Amino acid sequence: MKYDRSFFDAGIDRKGTRCVKWDADFIQPGDLPMWVADWDFQCADPIVDALKQRAAHPCYGYPCGDPRDQEAFCGYWQRRHGVTIKPAQTLMLPCVVTGIRQMVLTFTQPGDGVLMMTPLYGPFHDSIKRSGRRLINVPLLRREDACYDIDFEGVENALQNGVRLILFCNPHNPVSRAWRKEELRQLAELAKRYDALLLSDEIHADFVYKPLEFISMLSIPEAADRTLMLTAASKTFNIPGLQQAMAVSYNADILKKISDNLEMQGVTSGNVFALPATQAAYTKCDDWLDGMLDYLSESRDILKKELAQQLPLAVLTPIEATALSWIDLRAYAPTCAELNQKIKAHHLVINEGNWFGPEDGEGFMRLNFACPHATLREGVRRLAEALTK
Ligand SMILES: Cc1ncc(COP(=O)(O)O)c(C=O)c1O
Repeated sequence: MKYDRSFFDAGIDRKGTRCVKWDADFIQPGDLPMWVADWDFQCADPIVDALKQRAAHPCYGYPCGDPRDQEAFCGYWQRRHGVTIKPAQTLMLPCVVTGIRQMVLTFTQPGDGVLMMTPLYGPFHDSIKRSGRRLINVPLLRREDACYDIDFEGVENALQNGVRLILFCNPHNPVSRAWRKEELRQLAELAKRYDALLLSDEIHADFVYKPLEFISMLSIPEAADRTLMLTAASKTFNIPGLQQAMAVSYNADILKKISDNLEMQGVTSGNVFALPATQAAYTKCDDWLDGMLDYLSESRDILKKELAQQLPLAVLTPIEATALSWIDLRAYAPTCAELNQKIKAHHLVINEGNWFGPEDGEGFMRLNFACPHATLREGVRRLAEALTK
């Protein structure tokens, strides 16, 4: 199979497959969903083949470990990102959000402060608040060009006030930032100086657009022994429904404590379908991924151009990474509720910005552009119609 523009242009009809993006109960007939972060593209053939092969054996009992799973993962990170990880430094998880929650539960106590930076993917907020920890928000700083920076002064201030866990998203959802080495180093130095732990959610690692490069927190020497990195094949290869992720730490103690906690809670990982599919993803699907990244790079340009033409007052945050765009629509309506009322009436479903930042996301929306270019154009057309007619 050739994973070229025509492959991704073809997309796939997902309705009726029990996928939340297209089949959730709030999706109305005629709606165009461009919200949750999975992609309207067919998976790579080797993944589909691996699943078919496993499904063809009509017995689905408990699976057993296979070192090739970890080898595939480590080989992939070495090949794609130049990051050396040994199998013993990995821990399989049901999903990345499990890892975020476990990090909070394992290394902090109720009442402790946990730092994060809004706007940020909702489950980060939830992991802190639901576990009775104090959410210490150090909002990202919005530049004049709508790009976001880390507020290092704010971070240091929080650390001086006793925070010992930083939850970080690299690359960042929703502001699509690919953090530079210098920024990661500065954050890691602060963590080291105040003896804080770092969680680095790197699930979007594979979606950094050229000429930028993804830099893992694991490659920053100051962070090496105080970081838990979380990632998955799920976003990269469009298999989040299979529920498999990986935690990595160069600090054996961090990994052991998380592993013990998971065991105590009866959380097990690796199911009969996720295991072979993930192994295939990490070993046989680079051509599919490269094809998708080329396609998404064009999608970014289309989105920018169409928004500028049809919604000139919308401010699109520069997209350095991810397949998610962060759009300031305050010129059209001040609140997400007002924006969404109009947008939904025009049969477009996108995410309200205040889910990512109750204050700094108000009046913003997040649009997922991992769909055929024709769908993307139609999405922007509906958005413009909703806000200007
Ligand atoms: C930054 C980030 N972390 C985690 C997740 C969810 O990952 P999982 O399904 O493995 O919990 C997402 C999904 O959109 C995400 O954007």
